[in-house]
Order: sequence, then structure tokens, then C-alpha cells
Amino acid sequence: MTAATGTPSFAEPDDVEHWCPITPSKRQRHFLDLTDRREVFLGGAAGGGKSLGILMAASQYLSWPNYKAIIFRRTYTDLAQEDAIKDVAKQWWQHKPGIYWNEGQKKFIFPSGAVIRFAYMAHEAHKRRYQGTQYHFVAYDELTQFSEGQYTYLFSRQRKLRDVGIPIRMRATSNPGGDGHEWVKKRFITKEAEADLLAGKYKMSYTLDSGRVFVPSRLEDNPGLDIEDYRLSLSNLNDVERAQLEQGDWTVSIAGIFPPDAMRYYQHGGDHIYRAIDIDGSTLAAVAESECFRLMMIDPAGTARDRDREEKGKPPSYSAIVIVDMCMERGMAFLRHVERVRVEAPDLITLAKRVYREYQPVLVGCENTGLGLPIYQTMLREMPPGVVIPLEPASKKVKQLTERSDKLSRSVPLQQWYKQNRVFFPSQATNACPWWSDFRGELLHWRGLKDQTCDQIDALAYAIIYGMRYADEFEVAEIIDPASMPSIF
Ligand SMILES: Nc1ncnc2c1ncn2[C@@H]1O[C@H](COP(=O)(O)OP(=O)(O)OP(=O)(O)O)[C@@H](O)[C@H]1O
Ligand SMILES: [Mg+2]
Repeated sequence: MTAATGTPSFAEPDDVEHWCPITPSKRQRHFLDLTDRREVFLGGAAGGGKSLGILMAASQYLSWPNYKAIIFRRTYTDLAQEDAIKDVAKQWWQHKPGIYWNEGQKKFIFPSGAVIRFAYMAHEAHKRRYQGTQYHFVAYDELTQFSEGQYTYLFSRQRKLRDVGIPIRMRATSNPGGDGHEWVKKRFITKEAEADLLAGKYKMSYTLDSGRVFVPSRLEDNPGLDIEDYRLSLSNLNDVERAQLEQGDWTVSIAGIFPPDAMRYYQHGGDHIYRAIDIDGSTLAAVAESECFRLMMIDPAGTARDRDREEKGKPPSYSAIVIVDMCMERGMAFLRHVERVRVEAPDLITLAKRVYREYQPVLVGCENTGLGLPIYQTMLREMPPGVVIPLEPASKKVKQLTERSDKLSRSVPLQQWYKQNRVFFPSQATNACPWWSDFRGELLHWRGLKDQTCDQIDALAYAIIYGMRYADEFEVAEIIDPASMPSIF
């Protein structure tokens, strides 16, 4: 242990082995070594050693008399649970000479005078209980159980006590899933990390532009776990829960409106034919693009109201453009392309024109209210008439989407198509779609809550509604016999 002498500009951490009866795993060690990082999230598979990682991190400056740490669970019940983080701490420290446990205040006082406290924040307002108190170390165990406001409030209260030199640290752990899944994912999980986790690759950590660090935790990281036995018990869970808890997959959610097992895929080999894949991997149908009615839907965001909401901490909204091919004859829809951007109106117009040129849809839908209006008007004016489908007069190319209904009710036809396995998404095997991971995450997480991001889903929902409404007005080619097509399988 490093002695606390003098007032150095930056304190050396104690050896955790001095305070904790276990040796950190390689991943926990990496997590502990990030003492100069303000905000670190240890997240992923269940049983990866996350909670103990937090406890060890809390113990890193106990030889410093002024050191104060606080560890939160969401509710009192969570905190009081046997084998949960407070219980483990009590097993470690309660009866150690010189360490005092104050049951009323749920805190340990160490020989130096340093304190580790345990607390909960059942209600949003509980966050204010801790204002004015200065903690060098604030940690949240199971972060997805908290609201973003409960997390960031304490973050704002942490002030650096330079005279002591102890670094200010914010730490959190969580499995994927839970009410706060989305905000936690947005805050910490980079695209690179997400793609790596899906591919079963794990770097030691991922640093975001903001300086935040995500340390993925895996079952294999935990030397104290009988992994095979644990895997066996996880095998009783459904696919989504297992992906979340065993692999630490942040892209899927349990209670979503769009169940993952109803998702279907297509392959598209550049020959203008969609091969719809059945659940068993066989080809369900081969559908030529020419059999389809191609729609482009533009759903702009960034209105004054959207920005106002963002100011108040609500999730940001994005503009979305989708290209969907609908084969009405067979009742199938293929999501061909998605753009999801946060740009000002002129850039959105430029993007919409580019997507239009590339995909040549026969129908373009654009919201014609708020920010959508200038985009709608420009599209109406600039869309080259008759380029794609000569049957369609130019003036009908842009339809007004004036439904006032909310996004949840607007998604009902899409939900029906989806649950009947009639919506097909690009299979990763043959399509490099940079937008797919984002779209899949949004779709599988969505629970129809007011503050959940669903811009891409909404654009797809529009496509299904308008596809069904206008398909009759457009001619499509004859259905091709799948047997006459070359198989790519
Ligand atoms: N470094 C270690 N050495 C030995 N055993 C460990 C170590 N880290 C964790 N363990 C043991 O592994 C088990 C799981 O650890 P922990 O509770 O920290 O995991 P977790 O990731 O928080 O799990 P959960 O997702 O269920 O909350 C515990 O029984 C713990 O004692
Ligand atoms: Mg835990």
C-alpha cells in the first residue's frame, strides 16, 4: 500500500489486495488501472465480476483520510439483497480490526478515516439527498435500473478536491436490458464495440470521443466462476435474455414490441433479386426488384420542439429516410436502405435527392409539416418527373403524410406485417449495410414509450401504410417463378 504522506498533486492508488480478499481478474485489473479516467462503465455479461470490480475500485484510495466513496443500488431491496454488493463488502470488512461499520448510515469507516457508503435512489427525487456532499468515487451497480437524470445529477455534484489529489471517478456496471438499456447504451457503447461484441470479439476497453470508457465484461473474465455450469443455467433463458446475459449483447431487448424471433432476412446478391430466407435457412421466395413497389419515406426531425425536448434531457431525434420494396402480390416487404442523420434541412434535402437518385423509388413520402415542409416543397419542385415509373404523374410522386396519429398507433400495420414474418431485413452474410446494426437495435428495443427513439421505425411504418394504400396505382412486373432462378445457397 502507498502511504498517505504529504499532499502530492496526484495520489497513488493503494494495492487493492491490501483491502480486498481476492485477486482482480485481468479485466478487473484493467478497469482498476483507469484511475485517471473520470467516467468508466463496466458492462456486459452476467457474472463477469462487475460488482466486485466496483467494490475493488472503491477501495483504491482507502489510505487517504479524506477519501469518500458512495455506491448506489436502485432500491433498498436491491441494496439489502444477500450476496449483493453491500453484503459482499460486509463479508470483506465488517469484522476487520480498525474498520467500523455504521449500520444506520450504511457506511464503513476505515482506519485512515476514509469512508465507503452504500445508498439507494428508489425515486427520481432521491438524487437530491446527496447534493452538497462531495464524493471522490461515485458508483452505480446495475446502471440500467437508474434513470439518466439520477446518474448525471451526481456526476454534476462531484467536485475535484485538488488539495488531496485523489482522482474524481464515476463508475458503473450493468448487464444489457432493463429500463435504462437505451440511455446507457447510447452513453457508453460505441459502434465499434457493438460490432465487436456481436462478432464475439472483445477489446480490453473502448474510449469514446467524450473520454468515457467502456470496459466490456465477459463470463470468461471471471476466474471465480464455473463457466460451463453457469452457461448451462443460462441456456434455460430465451434467445434475447441469453444474448444479453451470456454475451453481453447490447443490441437486443426483451420486452420490445417487435419480437426478435419474428425477424426475417433476405439476401441480395447484386442481381436485383431478393431471396427471402425462412427461419430454417431455406429460401422462402425469390422476389425480383421489378416485382416490387419501391417507396422512399422521409421523416425529418430537429424541429424547435424536438430541440426543446433534447434540452430537457430527452433522447435526441433523428431524421430518417428509408427505402422499402414491397411485393404486394406476395405480401412481402424488403427494407432496402436506411439513412439516419442529424442534419439541418438543406443537408437533409441534399441527402434525400442523393438517395432518390440512387434508388429511384416510384413513390416518395415526406412529412409536410414543421421542418418537413421545406423538404417536401423542394422534393415536389425538384423531383425529376417520370424518371422511374412512367405510369406515375410527377405531381403524385410526393404524397402528403398528414396523419396525426402517434407513432405507436402508426406502427400497427408494420407490427402486423412483422409478426406475420412478412418484413425482411438484410442478412449480414451477404450485405454490408452500415445502417443495419442501428436499425436492428432501435426495432428490437422499442416498447412504444414516449421518450424512446423510434425515427427509423416510424419511417418504415409509414412505408407499410402508404405501400398498402398506393400499390394498386402502380404496375409491377410479372411474378418470376423462383424455380427458374439460380440459387446462391
Ligand atoms: N477476481 C475474482 N476472483 C474470484 N472470484 C471472483 C472474482 N470476481 C468475481 N468473482 C466471483 O464471481 C461471482 C460473480 O461476480 P460478480 O457478482 O462481481 O459478477 P457480476 O458481473 O456483477 O454479476 P451480475 O451480472 O450477476 O451482477 C461472485 O461469486 C464473485 O465472488
Ligand atoms: Mg453484479
